[in-house]
Amino acid sequence: MDFCLYDPGQGYYTTQETIFGPQGDYYTSPYTHPLFAHSLVSAFVHYFELLARPRPFHLVELGVGEGFLGRDILGRLKDRYPEIFDCVEYFPVEVGVDLPERIQGIVFSNEFFDALPVHRVRVRGSEVREIYVSVGDQILEVEGEITDPRILEYMRTGFNEWREGWEYEVNLRMVEMLKDLDRRIDSGVVLTVDYGYDWGEYDSRDRPHGTLLCYHRHEVVTDPYINLGRQDITSHVNFEVMEQTGSQLGWKSEPLRTQRRFLLDWGLEERLMEEEAQGLLNSERMEERLGLKTLLAPGGISDTMKVLVQHVRNF
Ligand SMILES: C[S@@+](CC[C@H](N)C(=O)[O-])C[C@H]1O[C@@H](n2cnc3c(N)ncnc32)[C@H](O)[C@@H]1O
Repeated sequence: MDFCLYDPGQGYYTTQETIFGPQGDYYTSPYTHPLFAHSLVSAFVHYFELLARPRPFHLVELGVGEGFLGRDILGRLKDRYPEIFDCVEYFPVEVGVDLPERIQGIVFSNEFFDALPVHRVRVRGSEVREIYVSVGDQILEVEGEITDPRILEYMRTGFNEWREGWEYEVNLRMVEMLKDLDRRIDSGVVLTVDYGYDWGEYDSRDRPHGTLLCYHRHEVVTDPYINLGRQDITSHVNFEVMEQTGSQLGWKSEPLRTQRRFLLDWGLEERLMEEEAQGLLNSERMEERLGLKTLLAPGGISDTMKVLVQHVRNF
């Protein structure tokens, strides 16, 4: 997964020119409608106050992609909250870009953690075996002993029960990233929007092969061994692990919410009505209406996507 996504000469994120949009492989929420970013801004304004109006107010965005979300967030802040905008220092983080040394403010991301390479394991009786990849004339999966004791720790934290023969993903990079953020954040909030689950949701469905999926030209592909370097490979975020890793670091989590709930909590509906009243939403414009539908439709992307807000020390 690491090689397919990040190899400097052949990796998906490092070489594919068009990932997003109609010519690419998928859309993300920032493409559906700027009201997604505007709702995030309402939350940011709240945290700015909670953090006692830091100056500078860092906004660190992990995995910015084409940068639509950051652009819409900064634009909204500039228009509506110029006094906060004046305090903002924005850090877009992409592959190969270092995080700022010291952070006071908000570290946020949309579909970042689900892109990190994972270990895969399979349960065999009382044992957890790692799934390796052997590359020769063909690509084959080979089971062996686990390489890293943290894999077992992750399994115990993230999955209350393990089922015989089932495969699970273990996202140690996510854990490393949270620990790295903890070293850098003086006071702040980590706000994560991503495909993911808590234990209850994970357990509610049969997932013998875990959640690893690929996206290629707007199609879901279940085989990660085809389209190498030309398709995205993702796995759902285990929010149970994210929350507990934070808690071990002394962070406090707000309850996990669906993206839909989060957007509504932060005034998406009111904002919609406001814009409609100002005539900014031309209801005849199909694209705009579809974008909004995607953001609000029950059972759609906004219910699969979750939002976790973690408060990191000093407030
Ligand atoms: C699924 S895209 C999401 C992009 C954007 N946030 C959006 O919502 O449209 C994941 C992004 O994370 C970036 N990314 C993946 N791994 C990364 C890493 N280790 N460090 C920084 N960025 C990374 C990828 O290059 C890609 O732009």
